[in-house]
Amino acid sequence: MTDRIAVLGAGMIGGAITKSLLKSGYKGSITAADFVAEKVREMKELGAAATTDNRKAAADADIVFVCVKPGDVKKLLKEISKEVKGKLVVSTAATLPLAFLKKTVPEAKFVRIMPNLAILVQASYTAYCCEADVTQKDKEKIKTLLNIMGTCEEIDEKFMDAITGLSGSGPGYLSIVVEAMMYAGLKLGLPRTVALNAAAQTVLGTGKLVLELNEHPAKIRDMVTTPGGTTIEAIHVLEGSQVRQALMQAIEEAAKKSQLIREKILETTK
Ligand SMILES: NC(=O)c1ccc[n+]([C@@H]2O[C@H](COP(=O)([O-])OP(=O)(O)OC[C@H]3O[C@@H](n4cnc5c(N)ncnc54)[C@H](OP(=O)(O)O)[C@@H]3O)[C@@H](O)[C@H]2O)c1
Repeated sequence: MTDRIAVLGAGMIGGAITKSLLKSGYKGSITAADFVAEKVREMKELGAAATTDNRKAAADADIVFVCVKPGDVKKLLKEISKEVKGKLVVSTAATLPLAFLKKTVPEAKFVRIMPNLAILVQASYTAYCCEADVTQKDKEKIKTLLNIMGTCEEIDEKFMDAITGLSGSGPGYLSIVVEAMMYAGLKLGLPRTVALNAAAQTVLGTGKLVLELNEHPAKIRDMVTTPGGTTIEAIHVLEGSQVRQALMQAIEEAAKKSQLIREKILETTK
């Protein structure tokens, strides 16, 4: 695939998309645009073409990633409306529906994605949904790009808030788990780097076990729990805590917030 890519907004996610594509040796051109000169410089140093001119970046691209905060999307889309006519525009913005994007620039073909920061290490789970005019060929291109950044799955748009709460924000929750496990290691006297490596790799490995063995997490838990062993002692403590309930509630609250932010943006950008 050699399509020319523009990434508008080289912040956390736009920067990660640019870095991920560069790291993969993507064959097409990659242009990052941002109005923060320092970010433009950073993207240039990494090997992307970089500019402060959104319109030029969009004009010279086949596929345009919009990676600004949800409240800034409408203004940016209006700015590049002529340049993206007939092109694929991929919005990373949480909360903003395809209908909102399409209404802003009816002539563009919109894809809405919800990645997470693991794009940076090519391990994101990215859900995406598409407007009706996105063709099968377009979808193949999107899948190819998103698979460079991790794995992807097309979903019904009605699930986007839930995905935002679960995997979009997910690295935030699992960082707490990794940190807590690291601190347990410190409490037991492990050297700091040993404790951190052991905690982080165990979270990574557990995800891989679930995915690659295609097993329910309960099965993995069962596989490591021997009668009278060490794991059952820890599980006994965990089951007496509210860790499951806390995670479920946390994700539900994040999803609710996604809905609230959308309502506020739609109200203020009418
Ligand atoms: N961060 C995540 O983990 C995550 C995960 C999933 C989805 N998302 C979505 O991804 C989008 C970007 O989030 P982010 O965390 O990457 O935000 P961010 O770090 O603030 O990056 C956005 C960048 O775009 C710049 N910008 C704003 N308006 C612009 C414009 N008109 N033209 C060019 N550049 C512009 C911003 O500059 P200023 O800082 O000067 O405004 C900033 O450098 C959001 O819509 C968010 O919902 C984020």
